[in-house]
Amino acid sequence: MILLTGATGFIGGLVLDALSAKNVQIRCLVRKPVRSDNPNISYMTGDVLDPDSLVKSTQGVDTVYYFIHMMGEQKEQEKFDILDRKAITNMVRACKINGVKRIIHLTGMSDPREKLSHHLASRKEVEEIIKSSGIDYTIFRASVIIGRGGAAFEILDTAVRRFPIIPVFNWAHTRVQPIFIGDVLRYLVECLDKKETVNKCYDIGCSQIFTYEELMREYASELGLKRIFIHVPGSWHWISSLVLGKMSSVDSNVIYWLIESLRNNMVCETNDLKKIFGFEPISFKDSINMVLY
Ligand SMILES: NC(=O)c1ccc[n+]([C@@H]2O[C@H](COP(=O)([O-])OP(=O)(O)OC[C@H]3O[C@@H](n4cnc5c(N)ncnc54)[C@H](OP(=O)(O)O)[C@@H]3O)[C@@H](O)[C@H]2O)c1
Repeated sequence: MILLTGATGFIGGLVLDALSAKNVQIRCLVRKPVRSDNPNISYMTGDVLDPDSLVKSTQGVDTVYYFIHMMGEQKEQEKFDILDRKAITNMVRACKINGVKRIIHLTGMSDPREKLSHHLASRKEVEEIIKSSGIDYTIFRASVIIGRGGAAFEILDTAVRRFPIIPVFNWAHTRVQPIFIGDVLRYLVECLDKKETVNKCYDIGCSQIFTYEELMREYASELGLKRIFIHVPGSWHWISSLVLGKMSSVDSNVIYWLIESLRNNMVCETNDLKKIFGFEPISFKDSINMVLY
């Protein structure tokens, strides 16, 4: 039995679709009740901040897919990093009580030599809690995921489509290695049957490295849009998040923390994924074409 968390989110929802094609029992942890017509899929209401609900939902489970983040969940007293720490600590405890064998997790890519943004430092902390839990794990780290509904992609799309003149701030030259959502899903689902990926962490991305400015220029060009880029000193992330929050489908808290992270490079360490999985992620240009057409 698989426990899928974040099933109502971008990654979890698509992993659910992909897992449905396999003959496996999937239990989804959701905060609001959902009904299922598929005999292989069941829903259990719970909350990662409610330890008892996690103990119940991990009963009889072999593998947990952990796709939770709390960036949109700022409470007055508690910032998202505290909530994310509590959530994964609760999950690890529940997994140990019920003898869960493996946690599969997707997180943000980061360079440990850099001073990390709040978001990436929190992602790193969650990753470390999983790694030191004593439970087997497979962790993938991605930067910008190219797919409809993904927060980073929707922000890119809104910025490029809506602004004929695009201000680029002090993150213009930060380097990033994006990846197509279809490739992310292949790694997340196929690793289930690949023992070599147990207790491993992998950076995943296409073979090209862009600066954020180049990424926006390339996207504009694929859309057939002429855009003027102007360099503005500073980060201006709170104004950017207010403006983009009004124009895009993404929560403005999430935008704020993602824009704050643009100062951190997201470039993959080399790995043996091609040998294990037998494919390489498609190019950024091909990803855009897959998403748009
Ligand atoms: N999207 C990207 O471009 C990207 C890139 C790199 C890495 N990642 C990683 O991928 C993972 C999933 O991200 P995502 O983009 O799929 O996020 P998302 O679309 O915002 O989904 C987050 C999920 O977490 C659930 N959740 C939040 N608080 C919860 C709680 N207290 N109890 C139970 N469930 C709760 C949400 O459920 P509700 O529907 O109830 O709110 C939702 O299903 C994260 O670890 C993220 O760091 C994403």
